[in-house]
Amino acid sequence: MNKYHFETMAIRNQTERTQFAEHSVPLYLTSSFVFDDAEDMRASFAEEKEKNLYSRFSNPNTTEFVAKIVEMEKAESGYAFATGMAAVFSTFGTLLNAGDHMVSCRSVFGSTHTLFTQYLPKWNIETSYFKVNEVDKIEDLIQSNTKILYAETPTNPGVDILDLELLGEIAKKHNLLLVIDNCFATPYIQNPIDFGADVVIHSATKLIDGQGRVLGGVAVGRAELIRKIYLFSRNTGPAMSPFNAWVLSKSLETLAVRVEKHCENALKVADFLESHSKVNLVKYPFLKSHPQYEIAKKQMRLGGNIIAFEVQGGITKGREFLNQIQLCSLSANLGDTRTIVTHPASTTHSKLSLVDRLEVGITDGLVRASIGLEHVDDIINDLKQALEHV
Ligand SMILES: Cc1ncc(COP(=O)(O)O)c(C=O)c1O
Repeated sequence: MNKYHFETMAIRNQTERTQFAEHSVPLYLTSSFVFDDAEDMRASFAEEKEKNLYSRFSNPNTTEFVAKIVEMEKAESGYAFATGMAAVFSTFGTLLNAGDHMVSCRSVFGSTHTLFTQYLPKWNIETSYFKVNEVDKIEDLIQSNTKILYAETPTNPGVDILDLELLGEIAKKHNLLLVIDNCFATPYIQNPIDFGADVVIHSATKLIDGQGRVLGGVAVGRAELIRKIYLFSRNTGPAMSPFNAWVLSKSLETLAVRVEKHCENALKVADFLESHSKVNLVKYPFLKSHPQYEIAKKQMRLGGNIIAFEVQGGITKGREFLNQIQLCSLSANLGDTRTIVTHPASTTHSKLSLVDRLEVGITDGLVRASIGLEHVDDIINDLKQALEHV
């Protein structure tokens, strides 16, 4: 399919038509598939034939969804999961053995951090962390049993950028697997495989769905690694449902146009916030003031839809700001058509000590905004009136 552009492939890469000659791909809501005879069944289970057996293993809808992401991420193979966290857990569950060690950026999604600190140690798997602004210390953290280098970029919720080229070079030099969560960027904005990533993970719940409807996850990458992840998952059961795959594959048809508009709106909102007297700091990858602006420009096509900004006056003002919001939503999700604002210090990251919070860039007044597809003037007006009232 790669003779076509991203947008065309996202629409035209579709499951073979049935005898009903449908134009849009139907939903294959079936848990299992039938065989012609005993020999067909034996050969299919022996993988001598490429056939769907059972929807925990594969289904035409999940296959179509995965095929699109594989192509968008320039990967060799992939597997779809019920959630982004299922993709994260299954990747580490497959690629790490008891006694292995991992090096990860400290600024990773909360549940991923909980997996590293509370669950992987049960299997004697330890993780060492580097801060976003201390990538020069990564090599010092590598041990003889280190297997994986892991990062998200842009990070959540600080919107910091890590240099994928540098991470790729370090991973190669030390023979580590480079695993990247590309959720904030989407494959439309950034392809970590271009910089040497071995596995790329997405929470499809975010911009890939883009309309706040279904949960999903996907891991794509080198075929031999994905094969192992597939076998782990086929036996442990975190598969994506055919219904969600059907929804998400349709979502991919509009990913390019949606992401373009999200990013256009986000840049305008970031410009507005930067000029406002009650805002201390604005972090958006494509603002020249972003500390890693040059790196963002090198590896991202657009700046994404997430902005982190600091309302003057700490926790109290940050919360007051949220209370004044009229149009935007107060919600835990991101990457929706609807603009969403959250205050990490009093919600998602409230259990962290102040020191730990500051270490990952979450100051008291920090607000994370996921810019949606409403008219940009309406988004700006809502933020403006909320700022006027704090
Ligand atoms: C960067 C990142 N990775 C993974 C996840 C987990 O995805 P899910 O909620 O689909 O399990 C999230 C969710 O917010 C996320 O932001």
